[in-house]
Amino acid sequence: MKKIRKAVFPVAGLGSRFLPATKAQPKEMLPIVDKPLIQYAVEEAVAAGITEMVFITGRNKRAIEDHFDKAYELEATLEAAGKEALLDLVRHVIPKHVSCIFIRQAEPLGLGHAVLCARPVVGDEPFAVLLADDFMDVPEGTPPVMAQMTALYEYEQANILAVQDVPRAQTRQYGIVSSTPYKTNIEQVNAIVEKPDPEHAPSTLAVVGRYVLQSRIFNHLENLGHGAGGEIQLTDGIAALMKEQRLLAYRYQGTRYDCGSKLGYLKATLAMGLKHPETGAAFAEYLKEMQL
Ligand code: G1P
Repeated sequence: MKKIRKAVFPVAGLGSRFLPATKAQPKEMLPIVDKPLIQYAVEEAVAAGITEMVFITGRNKRAIEDHFDKAYELEATLEAAGKEALLDLVRHVIPKHVSCIFIRQAEPLGLGHAVLCARPVVGDEPFAVLLADDFMDVPEGTPPVMAQMTALYEYEQANILAVQDVPRAQTRQYGIVSSTPYKTNIEQVNAIVEKPDPEHAPSTLAVVGRYVLQSRIFNHLENLGHGAGGEIQLTDGIAALMKEQRLLAYRYQGTRYDCGSKLGYLKATLAMGLKHPETGAAFAEYLKEMQL
């Protein structure tokens, strides 16, 4: 059995919903309290035992490469100033045994195309896909969402999508699955469609940005035409994959914040601000004072 060793992070998107904040910096570098979204996603992959991080980047994304690189000047300055705790933070953005690979997606042809760009590095191994703007928080003591999914993969040896129920009015924002119950919190997927209108959506079970896929997906992505929104859609590749391999939808444990939207981002900031060891108590006190 092949273990999941590689994670793909499609980070070439324009982040137009966050302009002007994303005019000169990637949306994945927006911080939740003190850590950029992409670092949370990488930490989630590391916690799942993944050791190779494959970033599919585009224009204006150099900050992501720099973030996971060594910052010589900054380290030297912090060291000289004796700021050990900060030095430690900067040095351990990523553990030593983890490597980062950057592939440039020359044209923004869609999520399916971005994942296909990872093929030369992923080869014939199963792999994870994490969309950093779907920020996942789990209750204390619960494994991070990707670790839940890789554990399920090891047991089931199937392709796995993370799913959650959404209001019917929102089906247009998601890949939507049609499924039959399989086990507790797991569905067997029979159909999947990208961003259907509420009237045509086969259900309200929506795919969120965590996937475990087998390498056969590449063969399908390669042969796809342009789908919803004129883009090469990962959902369409998965729909084709489903005809030859088992596809499960997993209702993960945890809360997802849509940090591609302003409201979701604010909610995540609130949740993490309350949990953060430095700000939690004072922030809670402030919210009480403000009667929020
Ligand atoms: C992408 C996928 C969609 C999925 C969503 C989850 O859409 O195409 O199927 O439901 O991520 O966040 P995007 O949000 O990039 O438009």
